[in-house]
Amino acid sequence: MVSPMDLLLIRHEQLSTPQRGQLLDIELLAEHKPLVGDVYGALHALTARPVCDIQGFALVVDDVPRGFFLLKRRSLLPRWASGQTATLHALMVDRRFQRLGLGKRCMQMLPGVVRALWPEVNQLMLAVAAENLAAHSLYRALGWQDEGDADRSATGFERRMVLKLI
Ligand SMILES: CC(C)(COP(=O)(O)OP(=O)(O)OC[C@H]1O[C@@H](n2cnc3c(N)ncnc32)[C@H](O)[C@@H]1OP(=O)(O)O)[C@@H](O)C(=O)NCCC(=O)NCCS
Repeated sequence: MVSPMDLLLIRHEQLSTPQRGQLLDIELLAEHKPLVGDVYGALHALTARPVCDIQGFALVVDDVPRGFFLLKRRSLLPRWASGQTATLHALMVDRRFQRLGLGKRCMQMLPGVVRALWPEVNQLMLAVAAENLAAHSLYRALGWQDEGDADRSATGFERRMVLKLI
């Protein structure tokens, strides 16, 4: 049994070579892939430039990555975000480790992680598919506000969510 308290959020470049390989073992349920893609896509997104405006993090439990997410800022912000904002993308927890509290713990740790990484950032934003009720309820429970439409999706518009840091 995983204790969410054992979770570490580790920057992608600080992962060991074996841990980088283990990232590729992160699996999602088939129904989640249209919502978030997969870990290969998320890692490919890390090739965006400038490198100072994107950061990948692994959710590491007992030394093994069990989840992943990306943060973007400044020139890499999506069109629905601006200002001193960091956006969260591709949050994923391996299907075999879901519903254990890792996603919640990660989101609780996120403000501290962003403050340490990019101190000028004063709000977090993300876009979530309207039909992704699990993720939407997770964000709402942790104080994120639904502030309207983000990008168009196959089924309508994604929801744009915001968490103020100050
Ligand atoms: C969303 C996701 C990251 C949550 O991670 P997790 O570790 O399973 O989440 P937790 O166990 O911490 O659960 C936190 C809360 O999320 C919600 N939740 C998580 N999975 C859920 C599910 N299958 N059904 C309904 N609610 C769910 C619940 O509100 C839960 O709180 P509770 O356990 O007190 O009811 C994970 O389900 C995932 O990787 N999904 C696929 C990718 C995705 O949708 N990413 C978000 C893109 S915006």
